[in-house]
Amino acid sequence: MTDLPTQTDVLIIGAGAAGLMCASVAGKRGRSVLVLDHANKVGKKILMSGGGRCNFTNLYTAPDNFYSENPHFCKSALARYTQWDFIALVEKHGIPYHEKTLGQLFCDNKSRDIVDLLLTECREAKAQIRTRCEIQRIEPLDEAQAKGFVVHTSLGKVVCESLVVATGGLSIPTMGATGFGYDLAKQFGHNIIPTRAALVPFILNKRALARQQELPGTSLAVNASCAEGHFHEQMLFTHKGLSGPAVLQISSHWKEGMPVTFDLAPGLDLSDWLSEQRGNKQESFLHTVLAELWSKKLVQFFLQRIGLDSKPLKHYSEQALKDVGEKLQTWTLTPEGTEGYRTAEVTLGGVDTNEVSSRSMQSMKQPGLYFIGEVLDVTGWLGGFNFQWAWASAHAAGGEV
Ligand code: FDA
Repeated sequence: MTDLPTQTDVLIIGAGAAGLMCASVAGKRGRSVLVLDHANKVGKKILMSGGGRCNFTNLYTAPDNFYSENPHFCKSALARYTQWDFIALVEKHGIPYHEKTLGQLFCDNKSRDIVDLLLTECREAKAQIRTRCEIQRIEPLDEAQAKGFVVHTSLGKVVCESLVVATGGLSIPTMGATGFGYDLAKQFGHNIIPTRAALVPFILNKRALARQQELPGTSLAVNASCAEGHFHEQMLFTHKGLSGPAVLQISSHWKEGMPVTFDLAPGLDLSDWLSEQRGNKQESFLHTVLAELWSKKLVQFFLQRIGLDSKPLKHYSEQALKDVGEKLQTWTLTPEGTEGYRTAEVTLGGVDTNEVSSRSMQSMKQPGLYFIGEVLDVTGWLGGFNFQWAWASAHAAGGEV
């Protein structure tokens, strides 16, 4: 006995951010919609997002906030369903929210508010949702028949006209993430842009960790740079290496073996500042003066790192202070690696967008097949951009399926 309808207009695999949004949009157009997820509950990543308060969008969302081999792909969907559209939906549901920093909008209460919003919208759209459902096999209908697919699942067989893949990326496998979407894309001849963990903390080698053993939990504002990326945000020392928004952001630019440079006093010309201090406070020790910028622990660590003893400023030459400034504004290290998919917020790479319509998210290889959300090779910066992509791409597909 199956619990599933045997036929539906639209079958969506993945009851996460994109899948639920797409279900509500398609259902409101009068399409019969079934959403299947193998996890025991829907929207697990939404629930754990934003430290439990879901950073659901960003006021300043623009195509420049996304990485993709095909940077133009995201423009159409983002323009047709904007952050303002999602904010209007949040307001329609009476969900209280606030801007934290840099345009990042968070729920005042719990991420659960966003899951409830999506479930209410799905209910109004008469979309059906089933969890704990394993997808076993997918076959396109015979050419002689209408376009569509037969989806074999642990709860039975369903025939659908449109099949939407909303299975997300590989991060946090314990929350239900799988490579299913990539395998399905390959089954229909799609190319996959190689994937890697992003928005993820760095791991440092044992020697570097021994040096910073007093620092875990300490944070400071930095400007982190790697390849073409530059981010002015907080960096956090951890027991395994480095984290915090600046590090998560720059990790999206990092590949194995690449050095990362940190300006530890962003917005200040440290050499000039030290020279000024030398004029005014000749008798003050270097560590005392630097403690105006950072905590004592950090000052001690930085001085050790650049191999300098603290002396009264008058004992340093102008050039020596210039060197201190330069070293602390170009502190460079090569991470041993990242914490990987276990803790990454997102996956870079995915289904090649050159083979997907940017208007409808429909496959150019298989009519009736759609890809939305993180499974595509579109990855946002930290700050609500990844959810905005989920909403926008889902809305684009929901209007077409
Ligand atoms: P999502 O991962 O949401 O959903 C995929 C669904 O598919 C899941 O329900 C999964 O169970 C299901 N699935 C997978 N394989 C399947 C299979 N084989 N069969 C059936 N179902 C399957 N972004 C942001 O903008 N703001 C934020 O605050 C955060 N915070 C955050 C914190 C943490 C800890 C993480 C890990 C991630 C974030 N993100 C974020 C990123 C954001 O969560 C992510 O980009 C979106 O959830 C992607 O939405 P999707 O719907 O594409 O995938």
